[in-house]
Parts: sequence; structure tokens; C-alpha cells
Amino acid sequence: MTERKLLVTSALPYANGSIHIGHLVEYVQTDVWVRFQKMIGNRCHYVCASDTHGTPIMINAKKQGVTPEELVERFRAEHQEDFKNFHIDFDYYGSTNSESNRVLSESFYEAAKRKGGIAIRDVAQLYSEVDGMFLPDRFVKGTCPTCKEVDQYGDSCEKCGATYNPQDLISPKSVVSGDTPILKESVHHFFTLSKFESVIKAWLDAGVVREEVRKKLGEWFEEGLKDWDISRDDPYFGFKIPGTDNKYFYVWLDAPVGYISSTLDWSKDATLTDEIWKGDDWEVHHFIGKDILYFHCLFWPAMLAAAEYAMPTKVNIHGFLTVNGEKMSKSRGTFIMAKTYLEHVDPEFLRYYYISKLSSHIEDIDLNLEDFVFKVNSDVLGKFINIGSRLASIVYKKCDSTLTRSDTEGVALLDELLAEAENVKVLYEALEYSKCMKLIMGLADKVNKYIDATTPWALVKEDKEAAASVCTTGLNAFRIIATYLSPVLPRITHDIAIFLSLESLKWTDLGTHLNEHVIQKYAHLAKRLELEDVQKVIQV
Ligand code: MSP
Ligand code: ZN
Repeated sequence: MTERKLLVTSALPYANGSIHIGHLVEYVQTDVWVRFQKMIGNRCHYVCASDTHGTPIMINAKKQGVTPEELVERFRAEHQEDFKNFHIDFDYYGSTNSESNRVLSESFYEAAKRKGGIAIRDVAQLYSEVDGMFLPDRFVKGTCPTCKEVDQYGDSCEKCGATYNPQDLISPKSVVSGDTPILKESVHHFFTLSKFESVIKAWLDAGVVREEVRKKLGEWFEEGLKDWDISRDDPYFGFKIPGTDNKYFYVWLDAPVGYISSTLDWSKDATLTDEIWKGDDWEVHHFIGKDILYFHCLFWPAMLAAAEYAMPTKVNIHGFLTVNGEKMSKSRGTFIMAKTYLEHVDPEFLRYYYISKLSSHIEDIDLNLEDFVFKVNSDVLGKFINIGSRLASIVYKKCDSTLTRSDTEGVALLDELLAEAENVKVLYEALEYSKCMKLIMGLADKVNKYIDATTPWALVKEDKEAAASVCTTGLNAFRIIATYLSPVLPRITHDIAIFLSLESLKWTDLGTHLNEHVIQKYAHLAKRLELEDVQKVIQV
């Protein structure tokens, strides 16, 4: 098999708040895929960055009495720490507020302009004289023009679901100051998406998203692609639009460009960056949530086409996390921050749980706390780790810490496990993680049955050699299963490698059995999960 070259991204989290367990669905899903690709020998790089621009960040910084740059750096550091603790292993974590991103964003704009893809016209929007700024949709509240419900945001009504323009609100007020805004005109720059309609359509038809997503996108094309407003007025935290003195790029213009500038900032190699993003030797895989589909499947490909970059190979879209069947909520205490979770529960348990629920579909996934405890204890501890802990002390105490050889029955069992390697691979590749975990846990069941039937702890009293052979089979099976699970459980499986006197668990070593091999004393791999610990992460 020839080695594939892959550049993988997760969405760039806003540096305006903490990472929560909803975000982690995406970063865990991506990290597992990247670890898997690296493990099977593909060249794969994983880049991400802080998304730093926009009005909310600017206002938040002001409130806290710091500069936006300071606020962004604070969150960027915090996010990196959280990700590290969850074993999310980026090759590079950049920032969209970098010099390289400014230069690249400008070049995207200039390219679109050269292609006749930028239109300039006046727009009337709500402006607060007290705040001294135009108010984005979420910074205006008023009465819904449709159902007359009070206190609704400028873009849509939570009561009746109507969508409208902020200027249609009845008695609009600034969220910042409470001031009543006026309607004011200003010049805006638009990206004319319709110019790139055929390119985007052809790209979508080539199977870059799941069929269900392509259908949904089809509706947008039927409605006709509207021009996209890519400019914002001063004051704004972002990049100035070249040739203007008080206009900035809308955050969603420079955010996806951050994927490319982070590749450049990481590699410090413009040629390689062009090879990755412009050539056809490399695959580019984006991982995103369903809420930002429009940006990645419409705006982004249009920008790439305008600037003559290659189109992404795949956009993988996941659903949202619910907790105990409901939207994460502050009042129910289910808006759980990554940091809070880490104080009470092992990060790999959440990784396993998410992976055991994820598929390639866009459906939401639910974290049910009781099911979480049950699944982790039953699968990770009861099925997987149990194999090692049952056999380790027999080998250590009674067999000189030395594995011998498998008998015929043992070899047959190991062959059975190895025969599934290809299926495991296919399922990881296709993001069918839930099916993949079921398959692997089924193999663990087989190994446990084998141990139940051969009773090495009893056998060792009568026939040490036979018992050593059973343990050899069992621990080689343990090694195979640990290798299969290593993208999901990197810390536990790394500890297993140490226990087996191996540097690491390698896919290419799957079929190389450890015979006549000295192992180490077994160290406890993970603690049983208690419902009380899990309940501690719920903070009301
Ligand atoms: N900054 C933008 C992305 C720019 S990409 C060029 C953004 N940031 S975010 O912090 O709001 O979200 C980051 C990712 O986390 C998104 O893909 C989003 O879908 C995902 N999630 C945020 N909350 C989530 C859940 N509750 N559940 C699952 N994924 C969630 O969007
Ligand atoms: Zn309404």
C-alpha cells in the first residue's frame, strides 16, 4: 500500500470561553482518526488554532479590562492545556490573529476581487450612538415582529422560530448599553457566491460530504446563493480590509484561512504548504459540527476556488452533544467544562464513551451519565483491562515474568483476532467508530471466555507449563486488542506497552507474537468508575 498524505483539521474554537465537553466530541473524534492514520503508517498532520476575531471577543475583553490580544492568548493557553489533558495531540495549535493569517486572508480577498467576486454596496444597519458601533444580530434585542414575544435576539425568535432582520424588531435595544439604535448606512463588501456555484456543486457531487448533507445543501442552491457580507465596520477586532481605512474582514472570512496559515506556521515551509493546499498529492480532511456546515460547504470552497486552491477531500460533520437526553444547560448543571470533568473523572473514559457512540452520521450523541458509568466499567475495565489484570500476576509470581509459547488452540484464537485487523481498519477509516468498538469488544469477550475455560489460576498449580502457555496466548491477545484500541485509549495502551516490555504498540507488529519474552510487573491501569464521581461533574 502506498502511503497517503493527509492534513487533518478540527474547527478552530473561539478564544472567548472555556472548552466544554460538547466541543470535545469533535476533538476526540478527530484525534482518534489522526492517531489511527499515523498508526497504520500514513503521513498525517493535525492542525488547529484559536479563532480570535469578532465583536464578542472585543466586547468581552473590554468588560474584563484587557486587550483582545491578551484575552485571546489567555484562552489559547487554557484550551491547549485542556486539549493536552484529553490527549488531543495536535501537531500545531496556531492563532488566526497571526501575521501569516493576515497576509493569506488578504490574498484570498484580492484573488476574489480579481475574479470579479467582490461587490461593494451600501447597507443600512442598526447603529448605537452610545456604543459607537453597528450592532451584530446577537447584540440587539427587542420584540418579535411575528408573535410579539419580548426580549428576542436580532436574528430569530426563540418562541415562534421566525427569522428576520434586526431592523424589523419592535423597540430594539443594544445588548451592550440598552441604548435604542438608529438605522445607519455604511459601505459593505460582499463575496458573490453565485459566481462559484458550479464549482461548489461539482465538488459536493464528488462525495465529499455524506449524502444526507448533500441533500440539505441542495436546498440552499434551490433558493439561490445570496451574496455574503464579508466586511464589518470599526470598531472591530480583526484584520483591516486592504484599500479601506475603517473596514475589517468578518471573522468567518479569516477563520478558515487559519487552517492554511496554521499549516504554514507549523511547517515554516511555503512550498510544502502549497503542496498540501494547492496540489493533488495531499488529502485535506475537515472535521466540524453541524452548526457550521454552511461556512465549510459553501463559503470556504468558494473562497478556495476563487484563490485557486485545491478543494478539501472531505468535510466530516458530527452532531451535537446532549447530556441525559437534553441540550447542555447551565441551570441543570450539564454545561460541563473540560476542566471540571478532569477534576473528577479519567479523560480516557470520556474518549471511549464518545467513540463507542459515534458514527459517520450527523445525528446528535447523548452522554447519559448512568450509561457512561455502565459502559466504561463493562467495556474498558470488565472486558479489556480485565484480560491483562487476570493474567499478569500469574506470570509474574509463578512463571518468572516470562511468556512462553501458545499451543494450537491459543494460536487459533490469536489468528481469529488478527483476522479482524482489516475490518477494524475499515471501520476507523470510515468513522464508524461505534461499530468498530463493538467489534473489538466482541473480540475481548472471546478472550475472556478462553481464559474462563482454561482457568490458568487453577491450572498453574498442576501444570505450570500449560498455564504459562495459556497466559502467553491471553497476553498476546491483550496486546492485539490494545493495539486496536490505542487510537482511543492512548495513555492506557501506552502503559500496556510498558507492561509488555515494548516501546510502543505498532500496527505492523500485530502478527509478531511475544514468545519467550519477559514482561514487567503489572501496574494498575485504571480505576473503576463510580456514579458519585460522575455526578460531581454536574455543577448547579
Ligand atoms: N470558531 C468557529 C469555528 C471556526 S472554523 C474555521 C466555532 N467555534 S466553536 O468554539 O463555537 O465550536 C468549535 C467546534 O465545536 C465546532 O465544530 C462546533 O460544532 C463544535 N461544538 C460546539 N459545541 C458542541 C456541542 N455541544 N456538541 C458537539 N459539538 C460542538 O464554531
Ligand atoms: Zn416570535
